[in-house]
Amino acid sequence: MEQYIIKGGAPLVGEVDIAGAKNAALGILAAATMTDESVVIENLPDVRDTNVLIQAMESIGVMVERLDRHTVKINASMIDNFTIDAGYIRKIRASYYMLGSLLGKYHRAVVALPGGCEIGSRPIDQHLKGFRALGAEVEISGGLINAEAKRLAGNHIYLDVVTVGATINLMMCAVLAEGKTILENAAKEPHVVDVANFLNSMGANIKGAGTDVIRIKGVSKLHGTTYSIIPDQIEAGTFMFAAAITKGDIMIRNVIPKHLESISAKLIEIGCEVEEFDDSLRVVATKRLDHTNVKTLPYPGFPTDMQPQIAVTLALSRGTSIVTESIFENRFKYVDELSRMGGNVKVEGNTAIIEGVELFTGASISAPDLRAGAALVLAGLAAEGITTVENIVLIERGYEDFPQKLRSLGAMIEKVSEEKEIQKFKLKVG
Ligand code: EPZ
Repeated sequence: MEQYIIKGGAPLVGEVDIAGAKNAALGILAAATMTDESVVIENLPDVRDTNVLIQAMESIGVMVERLDRHTVKINASMIDNFTIDAGYIRKIRASYYMLGSLLGKYHRAVVALPGGCEIGSRPIDQHLKGFRALGAEVEISGGLINAEAKRLAGNHIYLDVVTVGATINLMMCAVLAEGKTILENAAKEPHVVDVANFLNSMGANIKGAGTDVIRIKGVSKLHGTTYSIIPDQIEAGTFMFAAAITKGDIMIRNVIPKHLESISAKLIEIGCEVEEFDDSLRVVATKRLDHTNVKTLPYPGFPTDMQPQIAVTLALSRGTSIVTESIFENRFKYVDELSRMGGNVKVEGNTAIIEGVELFTGASISAPDLRAGAALVLAGLAAEGITTVENIVLIERGYEDFPQKLRSLGAMIEKVSEEKEIQKFKLKVG
């Protein structure tokens, strides 16, 4: 079983390039199937989630040509099947974006009902409510969502919760519907705006993305485009905290500092220096960091996808910190793993009470989910001794070349799968 092996203690110093945003790429890939003309997508992250969605698209007849590692050319004129196999949904939930795109373009789609996942139950009631409001019949039977519409007509939809997925799915379904659609209480994440900008580059008429009211005027068809995906806010944030937790100095390149404001603010609050440039940002931590309190919120609040990373950093900071997770109901599973390294964190409901300790010691741990796995790697980088991280397939869903990028910053980390590789690493690092 592949795992990461880490010898902690080295401050991370140097420069790192951030890849395209996974959570924008997933919506954009699905939306690219809404035209019969060719679409070129650039700055695509080469991660498991996007590669699995591409396989799901190819399984229904979408032609996908990889022009280089980060560029694909998509042509969806030959789609011959409107059913996304359950296997793809099990691998990545965001395959459900094909509901919005196929329903919007062909007025029909069959996608397996996504179950819960490692971080919570993840209902999709708002997606289905919106599809129905646009005129679709949506039936759930045998674990499949069957959506069909004689015609799609714009409507005024109020989302009961701020939901990234439903906002993106309903934007796609509405862009070819007749008339106007208003999405109230819409998500404002950078990746929602990126999907809207992508659709507009194909000839859609979407206004207000990035605010909580998105107005869409249906158009008759969409045309081809060439589009470059925004940098990944969460990969960038993860490397920002890698600098903080290892008392390093990292220049993080290919970012949009505006998207990182809530993360930068927290890092400054706990004693880091953060310097912003046009498309990069430098984080320096020279001393033991301070405590703070943080509550995850929809954008522009502190992102839930950064909650494990700040929590493990606060677990080594001075004093007591409170982290409140207001988005998902089961996003503290890394706390048990962290306690094996010496972390002192108590979880009560959706709140973690963190007593900062001076030292983590290396241990054998397992990634409970994507972002918690990345956070535990950060903990291993700061720990004394050797840490092994299992279940790294979850981490590789959303981080391209994670060990390689960390090694380029001075980290002692390797991906290994056999005992002899582990022994070789231990001999090498001493
Ligand atoms: C997206 O998930 C991201 N995934 C998640 O990132 C991210 O944590 C989340 O948004 C919040 O920012 C992708 O973009 C592929 P939501 P999504 O719908 O769209 C509730 C990562 O690490 N809700 O915004 O599924 C839901 O239970 C992943 O990259 C409903 O109640 O999240 C949650 O409490 C993890 N009904 C809240 O809304 C619905 O119909 C926010 O969920 C939909 C959601």
